[in-house]
Amino acid sequence: MASPASGISLDPWFDNYADRASGLSASEVRALFAVASRPEVVSLAGGMPFVAALPFDKVRSSVDRVLRDSGPSALQYGSGQGLPQLRERIVEIMALEGIRAGVDDVVVTTGSQQGLDLITKLFVNPGDAILTESPSYVGAMGVFRSYQARVEHVAMDEQGMIPQALTERIDYLTRQNVPIKFLYLIPNFQNPAGVTLSAKRRLDILDIAKAHKILVLEDNPYGLLWFDKPPPPAIRSADDSGVIYLGSFSKTFAPGLRVGWVVAPHGIREKLVLASEAAILSPSSFSQMILSDYFEHQDWKGQIDTFRGLYQERRDTMAAALASFLPGVSHTMPLGGFYMWLTLPEGLDSKEMLPRAVTELVAYTPGTAFYANGEGQRHLRLAFCYPTPEFITEGIKRLAKVITEEIELVSTFGPPASEIAQATNVDSSSPGVN
Ligand SMILES: Cc1ncc(COP(=O)(O)O)c(C=O)c1O
Repeated sequence: MASPASGISLDPWFDNYADRASGLSASEVRALFAVASRPEVVSLAGGMPFVAALPFDKVRSSVDRVLRDSGPSALQYGSGQGLPQLRERIVEIMALEGIRAGVDDVVVTTGSQQGLDLITKLFVNPGDAILTESPSYVGAMGVFRSYQARVEHVAMDEQGMIPQALTERIDYLTRQNVPIKFLYLIPNFQNPAGVTLSAKRRLDILDIAKAHKILVLEDNPYGLLWFDKPPPPAIRSADDSGVIYLGSFSKTFAPGLRVGWVVAPHGIREKLVLASEAAILSPSSFSQMILSDYFEHQDWKGQIDTFRGLYQERRDTMAAALASFLPGVSHTMPLGGFYMWLTLPEGLDSKEMLPRAVTELVAYTPGTAFYANGEGQRHLRLAFCYPTPEFITEGIKRLAKVITEEIELVSTFGPPASEIAQATNVDSSSPGVN
C-alpha cells in the first residue's frame, strides 16, 4: 500500500497493510461517539436503542434460567448456523412481515452487521459495484469500502428508491462493463433518511433486479418498529430465489447481545455458513439461549409495542420542536424507526457546522457520512431513539440557534440573502432526500 503523500506515517507497519485495509477509515459516526457521550451534550447522533425500557427483571430471569437449565452448554461453542430453537423463533418473527422460510434457511450471525460483512466477502471483488440508496447506512458502506467495492448511489424520494433512476444506473454501469454484485436496500424507515419504500416500488425494483440478474440484499432491522401501521410486506416475501434478507434483534431487543440473522437462497446459505464458521466459528451460544428463553417466556410482542409507543412519542416531539424552532428547514417524517433527515438551506454545510453545534452542546450526524462520494453537505441525520422527549426539545432548540447563526454568517459572507430566504421557506412536508 502506498505511503501517505507526506511520506511520514506514525504507524511503522503502514507499508505492510493489505490493499483492502486502505478502505478502513474512522466513520464520522464513530468519531462522534466520544464527543456525544459527554453528559452535557444532547446527542441526536447515534442510533442507539433505548434499552433502559426493557424489563430488566425479566431479562435477568432469562439469564438465570439459561444458566440453571443449560449449565455449561450455555458457555460452550455452538452450531455455526445458530441454535435451532432460536431459528424457529426467527421464522415466526419473519412471518409477521410476510416472509415464509424454513428453520434451515436461517443463519444466525453476530448482529446483522456480520451478515453484511459475510455477503460482501462472498460476492465482491475489488472494483465491483454495489447499488445503494442515496443516502445509505454508514455501517454498510464501511463494509463495502473494506472489500474495495464501488458504491453506486441511486436517487430516492419520499417513497424510497426511484425505479427509473435504478434502471438508468444499471444501464450506465453495464455500458462501462462494471459488474454489479447486488442492490442493497433498507426498505423500512430507512437509515438515515427515515423513508419507507412503497409497496409498488418494492415490486417494481424487484422486477428490475430480476431482469438484470442482480441479487437484492434487503436489510430490515427496523421493520417491526412502526408507528401507526405496519410497512408493506418484506421484499423477500415476494421472491425467495433472488433476495437475501437481513434481520436483527438489536433494535427490537438489545444490541449488546449481538444477534442478527440472514435468510438466503439455498446455495448462498451453504456458503454463508462456511464463511461464518471461518470468521467466528459460531455465534454466541449464551446470547442465543437468552434470546430463545426471553421469546419463550416473556411478552416480547408487548415489549415491541412499548418501544413503538416510546419512539413515536419521541418522533412527534422532534417534529414539533423542529416546527417551532426551525420552521423553514425541511425534514422527512418517518413512519417508524429511529431517524429524521434534514435538508439545510443552501450554502450551509452540516459537517463544517458540527464543531459549533458541539460547542452549543448538541450533536448530530452530518449527511456526508451517508454518501460514498462526498455528497450530503446540506443534510444531517437526527436520531430520536435515545434522548428523552425533554432532551429532544432542548437539543432542537440548541440546533436551531446554531443553524440560525450559520444562516446569518452565510448571508454575510456567502450566497445572496435572497437565495437563503427562499431556501429557508422550504415546505416542511417535502422530502429531505434527493
Ligand atoms: C440499516 C442497518 N443495518 C444494520 C445495522 C447493524 O445492526 P446490528 O446491531 O444487527 O449489527 C444497523 C445498525 O444501526 C442499521 O441501521
